[in-house]
Amino acid sequence: MWGNESMEKENRSANFYDVIRERRSARSYDPSIKITEEEIKELLEEAMLAPSRTNLNPWRFMVFTNPAEKAKLLPIAFGQQQVVDASAVIVVLGDMEAYTAANDDHINQRAVDAGFMTNEIKDILSNSVKGYYESASEQSKKESQMLDGGLVAMQLMLAAKARGYDTVPMLGYSVEQFRKEFNVPENLVNILMIAVGKANGPAYPTVRRGVDEVIYWNGTWITANN
Ligand SMILES: Cc1cc2nc3c(=O)[nH]c(=O)nc-3n(C[C@H](O)[C@H](O)[C@H](O)COP(=O)(O)O)c2cc1C
Repeated sequence: MWGNESMEKENRSANFYDVIRERRSARSYDPSIKITEEEIKELLEEAMLAPSRTNLNPWRFMVFTNPAEKAKLLPIAFGQQQVVDASAVIVVLGDMEAYTAANDDHINQRAVDAGFMTNEIKDILSNSVKGYYESASEQSKKESQMLDGGLVAMQLMLAAKARGYDTVPMLGYSVEQFRKEFNVPENLVNILMIAVGKANGPAYPTVRRGVDEVIYWNGTWITANN
């Protein structure tokens, strides 16, 4: 699959509008399809181009491609077969320890080294976020994690689609059992599980509310009583 140059070109020129319209949650996968470690890393790199609060990159990813490891996920995900049949299951987590001035400084140092930021700007940024990190509640940090994690997860699903893969985001699993089974460190919070692979066929079409049902436009909800 990957490594074939014409495929690479084709995937990289996937039309953005097709990608967002054609992504559907797929639940039936071809178990014979393998995704290489290299391609999963490329996919994660693309996902990580997503924004994150003060660019802290708090995301962490637990990747499962090995059949024996994926099999452990089956009871944890209440028998959802896609965790076994999809080529990979990627669990998005967030590091609660990311919200420190030291981490902020560490990331911004890379921007300085890359010539994107001056040391002066780095220090101004560090000072401006320091107070927040020192006083932020666990609840507030967790809310940031869910936002940052949601954004990276969405980007991951779209990047996968652009490469010709299907996905399904999943919260239908026992976080408690998952954490126990895979010894998830205390500082990581679970955000979303995502199965990635080639669907056996088209996923169910789904509907959306009409755009006018959800908009408040300059003083008035366009449609009342939703
Ligand atoms: C946070 C979240 C959790 C979800 N959990 C599951 C899940 O555990 N199993 C599943 O089959 N689908 C799950 N879904 C998929 C939704 O059912 C699906 O996105 C929705 O029905 C819209 O369909 P579409 O993604 O095909 O457009 C989840 C979606 C989200 C955003």
